[in-house]
Amino acid sequence: MTIARSILLQAANNQWLADQMTRRAFSRRAIRRFMPGEELEDALGAAKQLAGGGIGTIITQLGEALNSLTDADAVRDHYLGVFDTIKARGLPTWVSVKPTQLGLDISIDTCRSYLVQLAERAEAAGGSLWLDMEDSRYVNRTLELYRSIRAKNAKAGIAIQAYLRRSPADIDALLSVKPAIRLVKGAYAEPASVAFESKRETDLAFYDLGRKMLSAAAAGQCFPVFGTHDMLLVNRVVGAAKELGVPDAKYEIHMLYGIRSEDQSRLAKDGRAVKTLVSYGHAWFKWYMRRLAERPANVWFVIKSLVA
Ligand code: FDA
Repeated sequence: MTIARSILLQAANNQWLADQMTRRAFSRRAIRRFMPGEELEDALGAAKQLAGGGIGTIITQLGEALNSLTDADAVRDHYLGVFDTIKARGLPTWVSVKPTQLGLDISIDTCRSYLVQLAERAEAAGGSLWLDMEDSRYVNRTLELYRSIRAKNAKAGIAIQAYLRRSPADIDALLSVKPAIRLVKGAYAEPASVAFESKRETDLAFYDLGRKMLSAAAAGQCFPVFGTHDMLLVNRVVGAAKELGVPDAKYEIHMLYGIRSEDQSRLAKDGRAVKTLVSYGHAWFKWYMRRLAERPANVWFVIKSLVA
């Protein structure tokens, strides 16, 4: 891990910095690069616009590690309303959530019941619920929650992080529940015993896991999603899909709002199924620090926003 990445990921846990940044106008200007706005309507507006260009969306209200079930209740109620709105507006929009935003740190059983409820409502709205993967302390529990949702036959997907050494075994074990898997590189600070430290190892793992998912897709056992802006890897997995006989409609490419937007449009024009993950909400500090850590050069945008 580079020093800059490590410092930015440590800073994500600094409450003083979080308070300062979320109050300042310059940082609110800087985050506009990665989110259309803090309100649900901002995300839905972007979803409508992207749909016009043949790009679907996944929306997510920022927030994580809640420590009261009352707050988790409010998040669940918020998303239940979101599914109704998506259905009423006929948007090609899914929802992604963090289990700790739905009370995982407080009660796994409550979190499970909320997730099952949300997955069922998502499916009724013609969409799908996705589980983000948080840091490695949560992987076992997130996999368990995902299995519970699939045991109810509800449609749902889960993120798996290529940098984790355990991920090949996790994907193999998941295949029995016919999963939808969003493969991502991984965004947290993890010890070397748990995750690859170098970009090269993570990139190699991403491709190997991508092939594993595509082979399973060819056998009708998995719906693969590739969540990356790494165009070299995107081109390699598209090539692997062709080689393994997986049709274009049987896998997707997902990217974040504001990153590689031109590539997103071009891929959609070329017939690839593309979705953009659009974030909204006020609790953006930790999420924003992870975006800076992915590309420390982004810090210049913050500095420019100071003087803009
Ligand atoms: P890489 O970091 O190698 O970047 C490739 C290129 O993309 C860069 O050279 C740059 O051009 C561009 N780029 C990437 N990040 C950028 C940024 N922040 N700003 C500007 N340009 C950037 N992680 C996780 O741990 N759990 C999760 O659930 C998810 N969910 C998720 C969903 C989706 C749809 C995506 C796209 C990503 C995630 N992630 C995630 C984040 C993921 O783990 C990873 O940190 C980022 O995607 C960055 O890695 P890339 O694969 O884009 O490659």
